[in-house]
Amino acid sequence: MNYKKNIVITGASKGIGYQLVNRYIENANTVIAISRNKLLLDELANKCREKFPDSQLHTICFDLSDSEIEKKLIPKILSKIDKIDILINNAGILVNCNYESFSHKKLKEVFEVNFFSVFILIQKLLSSFADDAHIINISSVGGITGSSKYKGLSVYSSSKSALNCLTECLAEEYKDLNLTFNALALGSVQTEMFSKAFPGIKAQVTPEQISKYIFNFSFSAKQTINGKIINVSRFNP
Ligand SMILES: NC(=O)c1ccc[n+]([C@@H]2O[C@H](COP(=O)([O-])OP(=O)(O)OC[C@H]3O[C@@H](n4cnc5c(N)ncnc54)[C@H](OP(=O)(O)O)[C@@H]3O)[C@@H](O)[C@H]2O)c1
Repeated sequence: MNYKKNIVITGASKGIGYQLVNRYIENANTVIAISRNKLLLDELANKCREKFPDSQLHTICFDLSDSEIEKKLIPKILSKIDKIDILINNAGILVNCNYESFSHKKLKEVFEVNFFSVFILIQKLLSSFADDAHIINISSVGGITGSSKYKGLSVYSSSKSALNCLTECLAEEYKDLNLTFNALALGSVQTEMFSKAFPGIKAQVTPEQISKYIFNFSFSAKQTINGKIINVSRFNP
């Protein structure tokens, strides 16, 4: 299998995204890593450079809730790579709050990051995907119809349902192209986000373990799976 690809990963500064960047870099891919925290992105870049001096990692500090993705983010991505083989929409936020207390501001914020930014990023990158590109949306098992639901997570889970539906719709809309769209609906993974959702509980899956799964899926599944919401949740929560 040829692992030498151009990969774009959002939400790269910590958690699952951080481990994903390491895994792709370790396998000599060119990686564009996007998130807000410059300090954490610089640390990630330094560590990758120490371990893999020839690594091709480009970090971009950007807030995905900014509506000017086309003007401010796309040119930065395309100044580093001309074609994208794999896009992993991994950035996400979770606000744990009861339904009756959820403000309109917070509601917008969650949807801006978890849904709007993914919609716009894919749309503005359409002409820059390689012929057989794989677009993976990192979703949540909570967004799957009929799955267990949890108090305080109504907005987060709804945003992931929207993301799941978008994944299916894009696979249909672009089925005549060779593009592949899938969503991975993750269960519990021990990260800062998980601690916010389920304080005091320890997840049994590590970001390293799930990043390995996502890495393998990104290369192996595109020949066989398109437009699917894959439930990757052995443990929840
Ligand atoms: N952990 C779980 O149990 C679990 C379960 C199901 C699904 N997921 C999904 O997995 C993905 C990764 O989650 P995680 O657990 O690794 O969370 P995490 O540790 O909180 O990391 C989230 C990442 O997203 C970035 N991010 C957040 N808001 C952003 C914004 N406005 N602009 C750019 N980047 C932003 C953060 O970086 P900055 O703060 O530096 O911007 C960080 O790198 C999410 O989509 C999440 O919904 C996680």
